[in-house]
Amino acid sequence: MQKCEQLYEGKAKKVFLTENPDVLIVSYKDDATAFNGLKKGTIVGKGAINNRMTNLLFQRIEAEGVPTHYVQELNDRETAVRRVEIVPLEVIVRNVAAGSFSKRLGVPEGTELAEPTIEFSYKNDELGDPLINSSFAKALNVATSSEIETIKKYAFMINDILKLEFLKAGLRLIDFKIEFGRFHGKIILADEVSPDTCRLWDVESGDKMDKDRFRRDLGNVEEAYVEVARRLGLEIEKK
Ligand code: TMP
Repeated sequence: MQKCEQLYEGKAKKVFLTENPDVLIVSYKDDATAFNGLKKGTIVGKGAINNRMTNLLFQRIEAEGVPTHYVQELNDRETAVRRVEIVPLEVIVRNVAAGSFSKRLGVPEGTELAEPTIEFSYKNDELGDPLINSSFAKALNVATSSEIETIKKYAFMINDILKLEFLKAGLRLIDFKIEFGRFHGKIILADEVSPDTCRLWDVESGDKMDKDRFRRDLGNVEEAYVEVARRLGLEIEKK
C-alpha cells in the first residue's frame, strides 16, 4: 500500500491518503501534548508502541463483535485504516474515579465506581473539548439517536474487552477515551487505544503506567509505555 498526499496532521498522528478512497494510512508520532496542547514534549518510542498496541487491541475488539477501522499494520509506526468520517465526540468510559471526574465531583482518585460510566466531550480544540450529554449531541447534529445508542453499546462492550485484556497484563483499566467514525453509514471504532488514551494502574503497586506520568511530571514515562507493551506481549525494539 502506497502513501499519497498528507491529508491531516494532528497532535499525535499524521494521516495520508492512499490510492484506495476507502483507505487511509495513519503514522504515529512520538510527540506528546497535554492540557489541550499547552504542555508539549516527546515520548521516545511512543509512536511505535501506540501503533502496535492499538492494532493488537483493535483486532481483539473486532473479534468480540465491535467493528473497527483496522485494516493492516504496515510497519512499526504506520497502519492502513478504513477512511471514516469522525463523529466529533470524545467518548470516555470510567471504572474508577480519576482525573477530571475526581476534580469535578470531589471523589478521591482511586474510588471504585458502583458501575462503569460513560460521558461525551464535544471534540473542539478552540473550546477545550467541553463536556456535553447525548441530548446536546443530537441538538448539535453531531450524531443521531440511533448512532448514540450504538456508540454507548459499543463503548461498554469495549470496556469489558479491554478490562480483561489489561487485567491479564497485571493492569487495572481506570478509564479511557475512544472515538468512533462513520464508514458507509455504519458506526465503527476509530482512532487509538494506547497509554495516551487510557489510565492504567499496576494491579500490585498501583503505579500509574500511562500518559499521566507525562501530564503530571512523574518521570519514567518511556519506561511505563515500554512496560505496558511488553506485558501485552509486544516485542518492542529499544530505541
Ligand atoms: P480525564 O479524567 O482528564 O477527563 O480523562 C479521562 C480519560 O480520557 C483518560 O484515560 C485520559 C483520556 N483523555 C484523552 O485520551 N484525551 C484527552 O484529551 C483527555 C482530556 C483525556
